[in-house]
Amino acid sequence: MAIRIDRLAKVFTLQTDKSTYQMKVDDHGTLLHTYFGAMAEETDFSYLIVPEDHGYCGQPGDVAGDRTYSLDYYPLEYPVHGNGDYRIKALKAGWKGQVPCLDLRYASHKTYRGKYALEGLPALFANQADQDVETLEITLKDLYEEIYVTLFYGVFEKKGVITRSAVVENRGDKVLELRRVMSAGIDFPAENLDLIRFYGKHTCERQFERSGLFHGITEIGSTRGTSSHQQNPFVILCSRDATEDSGDCYGVSLLYSGGFKMQAERDQFGSVRLVCGLQDDDFSWELSKGETFAAPEAVLAYSGQGLTGLSLCLQEAYQDNLIRSSWKNKRRPILVNNWEATYFDFHADKLLAIAEQAASLGLDMLVLDDGWFGKRDDDNSGLGDWQVNEAKLGCSLRELADRINDMGLEFGIWMEPEMISEDSDLYRAHPDWAFRVPGRVPNRGRNQLVLDLSRKEVRDYMKQSIDHVLESANIAYVKWDMNRSIDCVCSAVDPSISQGALYHRYVLGLYEVLEYVTVRYPELLLEGCSGGGGRFDAGMLYYTPQIWCSDNTDAIERLKIQYGTSFGYPMSAVSAHVSVCPNHQNGRVTPFQTRGICAMQGAFGYELDLGRLSGEDWKEAKRQIAWYRKYDELFRNGRYYRLVSPYENQDFTAWSYVAKDQSLALLSVVYTDLHANPHAARVKLKGLSGQARYRLEGKVYTGAALMLGGVILPKPKQNYDSYMVCLEQVLP
Ligand code: DGJ
Repeated sequence: MAIRIDRLAKVFTLQTDKSTYQMKVDDHGTLLHTYFGAMAEETDFSYLIVPEDHGYCGQPGDVAGDRTYSLDYYPLEYPVHGNGDYRIKALKAGWKGQVPCLDLRYASHKTYRGKYALEGLPALFANQADQDVETLEITLKDLYEEIYVTLFYGVFEKKGVITRSAVVENRGDKVLELRRVMSAGIDFPAENLDLIRFYGKHTCERQFERSGLFHGITEIGSTRGTSSHQQNPFVILCSRDATEDSGDCYGVSLLYSGGFKMQAERDQFGSVRLVCGLQDDDFSWELSKGETFAAPEAVLAYSGQGLTGLSLCLQEAYQDNLIRSSWKNKRRPILVNNWEATYFDFHADKLLAIAEQAASLGLDMLVLDDGWFGKRDDDNSGLGDWQVNEAKLGCSLRELADRINDMGLEFGIWMEPEMISEDSDLYRAHPDWAFRVPGRVPNRGRNQLVLDLSRKEVRDYMKQSIDHVLESANIAYVKWDMNRSIDCVCSAVDPSISQGALYHRYVLGLYEVLEYVTVRYPELLLEGCSGGGGRFDAGMLYYTPQIWCSDNTDAIERLKIQYGTSFGYPMSAVSAHVSVCPNHQNGRVTPFQTRGICAMQGAFGYELDLGRLSGEDWKEAKRQIAWYRKYDELFRNGRYYRLVSPYENQDFTAWSYVAKDQSLALLSVVYTDLHANPHAARVKLKGLSGQARYRLEGKVYTGAALMLGGVILPKPKQNYDSYMVCLEQVLP
């Protein structure tokens, strides 16, 4: 049983194979958070809450007199604004025009087999085989008013993850104004915790950063309308001594692709509260009688075995229970994308020449990137006009796709459906479809404006445009791009909608269109993209099984980008390509082999003019393709281990994949510095069977030796050299 309820003690315990999560309704009806951590059987952890005189912290009105009862001190399950808790809150709401004030108390609960869904929002789901998944709903009611909040918990017992969401319901006669609705809050007892977050910028996403929590509030988030390059909606709290292999780690991931906020507060007593959810800057959402509002889902995972355990847990849960594309268990096409090969300067002949090379190399697909539609010879115009520019291409899309198909390749295409250029027929016809503040010249990003996806007619236009493109040719893949932060958010239809609410309506609109495409074209492979990895989040994974990880294709910078991404996301979702050198983003020169090894960390492909490859590189590309095909299952479904961090070792970075049955492993190493008089380095493997014997380059070693002693690495022969080797279990 994943959910255990002690009715007498009013204790709710959520049990997974890896963790225990517990809440208790106290004598005043407050829902306390009593425990989250290593699996603990049959314990009521409320004994840890010691009533002490906290008169200076404040008491709720109905318990005046008891100076030990303070919600400013007690660990709370869903903290609200207005009941004497002065820490960061999950919910702030009140009747419109009145002071926001709530005091939520337990009303009822129910449990059922399977996983709840959230209408219009991405959420983890239970597959047919997942008979262990259960849902708990706890409904709280304001002490004074007909305002209800239902807390949702999805317990994936075997996967070790717990999902959370909150739905606010107005059953009163007045209009309820929501100012902040977070998905989850978690209170941790006083102990030294570190916070790990993943910051970045365009071409440098998800950089690992770890620091202690000082007293006060630490905040990360995005006000850009997308989850952003700058901060990722995934954080880890961990014990100060946590490493890859040991220590307590708590992962909190938000299934949301818009602006978000995650705050961690270390309070006066040293306890830590984490809240995560929608960005609430200028957020105001009105609920009339009978209406509800759902917060996006948050996923919580605990590992007592360090960061690796946490990542493996989330990666498996996302692979099996979040990614729903029919592609999730299929070999992904190895593709060539023309972006870095041609940018906007192409014609069908040039594309067909690349396709011919791709076919003779044995690739699966050619992807036509930006510039094939409307008036689009640079990034200043054309967005919104999704009609092929035959004058530029020299043929129709169907003709191009057919000719590429005739070569034995599939055809994929780039779109950026959420955007509009001022120089476009769409803008000339519907200038009011773009976000802009009346009377002001809108801010531009990449010289483009953003469509107001809160409007049905805009979403309908997007759906029609996508249908039109997909039905005009045999298209097997779409790269769904989004190249600017959103601002000047104002609805031409109702300028009174708060900006915060409109940002959320935008994301709901995006999800509606993505849902439409996903359902209508179940065989289509959708790749997410946002100026590279500006929207690499768990919300997008629900629709797009892979996401272009970064516009930075330099193999060495990608080491850190992909390292950071691996903490919270499955590697099968990380789209990575081999590009030319000197690299277009930073001018670095790296060996072709190294570029391949780095790109094979995820969904693999090329992004260069294949016709210009040297004889050597051509041969190496053939080797890479054969290698990727051979170990495809391992790359997609193997357990991924970060062996040597690019932050901790200046000389090399290493990672490995290990088959779930431990019969096969792949070790990859990229050298990042050279030394005279070098000493052979070694790297200790992880996740093998200790007793099993593995063949490595003709010799046989026990798994224990490879994990405790390690693999001796060859010495690098040139700058940014690399090494990739397979280890196969030797059957007795
Ligand atoms: C940004 C993407 O990340 C690139 O790969 C490319 O598709 C360009 N947009 C095209 O404009």
